[in-house]
Amino acid sequence: MQAQGEAAPLRWGIAGAGAIARRFCRDVNQHASLGRVVAITARAQGRADEFAQELALPLAFGSYRALAQSPEVDAVYVAVIHPEHAALIKEMLLAGKHVLVEKPAVTRQEDWDELVALARQRNVLLLEAMKVMCFPAMRTLLARLPGLPGPLSLRAAFGSVQAPDGKLFDPALDGGASWDVGVYPLWLYAACCRQLGLDAGEPEVRLQRAPGEVDLSARFSFDGGIRAELGASIVEDLDKAACLAGDGWTLIIEGKWWNPQGVRLQGKKTFAGWPEDIVQPVDGGGMQHEADHFARCVQEGLLDSPWLPQALTRQVLGWVEGGLASASDERA
Ligand SMILES: NC(=O)c1ccc[n+]([C@@H]2O[C@H](COP(=O)([O-])OP(=O)(O)OC[C@H]3O[C@@H](n4cnc5c(N)ncnc54)[C@H](OP(=O)(O)O)[C@@H]3O)[C@@H](O)[C@H]2O)c1
Repeated sequence: MQAQGEAAPLRWGIAGAGAIARRFCRDVNQHASLGRVVAITARAQGRADEFAQELALPLAFGSYRALAQSPEVDAVYVAVIHPEHAALIKEMLLAGKHVLVEKPAVTRQEDWDELVALARQRNVLLLEAMKVMCFPAMRTLLARLPGLPGPLSLRAAFGSVQAPDGKLFDPALDGGASWDVGVYPLWLYAACCRQLGLDAGEPEVRLQRAPGEVDLSARFSFDGGIRAELGASIVEDLDKAACLAGDGWTLIIEGKWWNPQGVRLQGKKTFAGWPEDIVQPVDGGGMQHEADHFARCVQEGLLDSPWLPQALTRQVLGWVEGGLASASDERA
């Protein structure tokens, strides 16, 4: 029961009954402290009913409009394929809902700017669901970053072999490595630069792409305050550990770096900026941390987030959009 003076839990509705929606729903309803998923929505009522039964949700809607109009939902987690994000976000914001949208938030920087302006106007919160930034181990790492001697370099990638007939290979569905997984290492880089007050600069982008097709792999190189080599692929398994290095030290974000639970100093050397290795495991898939952060921002009446700043979403969108428009292509 809710104690006196405690904020009511945020009531989540999910738009889209797909793969990631199930993970979010389980993580929130099993592990989150500040909210609960109460509603699922799919374009077909049958899919919504099936999802609601499987995950024991009280509400199942067969149209996104019904979700937008529900007085029993405070915030919407947009979990449809990314070309559908912009229109759906707009519909939810216009209905007065807070919105947490899966990555990539949208695929045009111009759309993001319009949606952020609309959210401000409606006095609701709009954030991109970049869950890695809300894991406790990542928050600890970023907090310690200013104490570590530079100059820094970063190596991070996200790549795995995907079924070649799926949505990720369809240019009409904004498929490709950069949009699907390139945004993760770009976010990590942008967040590190922001934490250190460094100018992130602009990347040199190289793509493996055939004419008229999606990018199968991408490399983003930065040569600014942090030197960074960032990779993405939908046709190749890439290193799952990320590596951050400076003068005489190397840190490894172990396991899958985008689900960070451990950060280790390589070698025996210790120094003041690194008191001990970070070991902060999460329950389940860890998506409860972004949900709780979002709920806390709503409780505090924030229209942006210190952990998932709208400006970082904008910066990353710009790098991918610009890279896809102007990169040098290598033979696919
Ligand atoms: N954070 C993460 O770890 C993570 C992981 C994977 C994906 N994602 C992101 O989450 C989003 C959804 O990914 P997913 O893998 O869950 O996708 P998915 O299962 O393929 O589809 C999600 C939903 O999108 C709608 N949809 C599918 N195909 C469509 C089409 N051709 N036209 C219109 N709508 C369509 C469907 O909604 P209905 O149910 O209403 O029919 C479907 O349930 C993407 O933006 C993706 O990048 C995030």
